[in-house]
Amino acid sequence: MRVLLIGSSGQIGFELSRLLPFVCDLSVLEKTHVEPAKPDNLLKAAERIQPDWIINAAAYTKVDDAEANKDEAFAVNSELPGVIARIANMLNSRLVHFSTDYVFDGTKPSPYFETDPVSPINVYGASKAAGEIAVRQFLERHLILRTSWIYSRRRTNFLLTMERLIAERDQIPVVCDQLGAPTSAISVARATVHAILHCGISPNEVTAPLWGSYHVTCSGETSWHGFAAAIRSRLQGSKAELKAILSEKYRTEARRPLNSRLSNMKFESAFSFVMPDWREALDEVYAIGETK
Ligand SMILES: NC(=O)c1ccc[n+]([C@@H]2O[C@H](COP(=O)([O-])OP(=O)(O)OC[C@H]3O[C@@H](n4cnc5c(N)ncnc54)[C@H](OP(=O)(O)O)[C@@H]3O)[C@@H](O)[C@H]2O)c1
Repeated sequence: MRVLLIGSSGQIGFELSRLLPFVCDLSVLEKTHVEPAKPDNLLKAAERIQPDWIINAAAYTKVDDAEANKDEAFAVNSELPGVIARIANMLNSRLVHFSTDYVFDGTKPSPYFETDPVSPINVYGASKAAGEIAVRQFLERHLILRTSWIYSRRRTNFLLTMERLIAERDQIPVVCDQLGAPTSAISVARATVHAILHCGISPNEVTAPLWGSYHVTCSGETSWHGFAAAIRSRLQGSKAELKAILSEKYRTEARRPLNSRLSNMKFESAFSFVMPDWREALDEVYAIGETK
């Protein structure tokens, strides 16, 4: 099985780049090959590779910056997935594309299902929702995997920010009224590899209903404050006080949904795969330690 991975330097992309060589012939593309404005570069590279699967882990993920950089966010999160889906269609490849809880407005009082209507409340969420539409429009053989609150030992994320603040400060205000499931990048990468192996590569191996959108997060739920407390409890000798505050007291450029909880039921039943509890996944990240 040949897999082409786009966005291998990102949190999820990096974990995929470590797992996939065990199960397939993996190719990764440099950023220069995946400029949305130059689809021919991507087409030529993909034609050379003839992938059975393309996995798009590239995205513009700076949620607050996206408010002022709408064009860039839409180019990477909407235009590029459309280009990739068209190329996948031309080459008879399948596509995994990642999306986000931020396609929802967070007003639902319970976890979101894949059938709930999207209603993004920030530019990033709108650009990702547009990317989903583009993928569905150009390619039937797709898996859109919506995940949430991703962290790892790489790049910028809540875990790394909180560890730094806990070391530097005596008191840290943390939002307590946004609910979700912190999800380690390695957990999503494992679920993704499982899903593509489950689908197989021969045209008759997968039945049509498997294609579509799925929620894939760690199980359980907490608030950002609960996540911060779990991080602090795993750091030795940390005394910083975590002050619970409401979102309205913590102004950011982009609004965030209060409810980011996604139900994993559809994914777990379609692919016979159980996502780990978020606390176990956090323990694993601490057990593994630094990622080079
Ligand atoms: N982070 C989260 O909390 C979160 C939550 C829900 C869903 N998701 C979704 O999960 C997926 C992966 O997220 P992540 O956190 O792993 O992402 P990430 O760490 O921010 O990495 C993003 C990847 O996209 C690449 N990229 C950025 N701009 C690009 C451009 N203009 N052209 C080509 N490549 C570009 C980056 O390359 P460089 O290294 O060169 O910048 C990097 O490889 C995304 O679809 C994201 O929307 C993330």
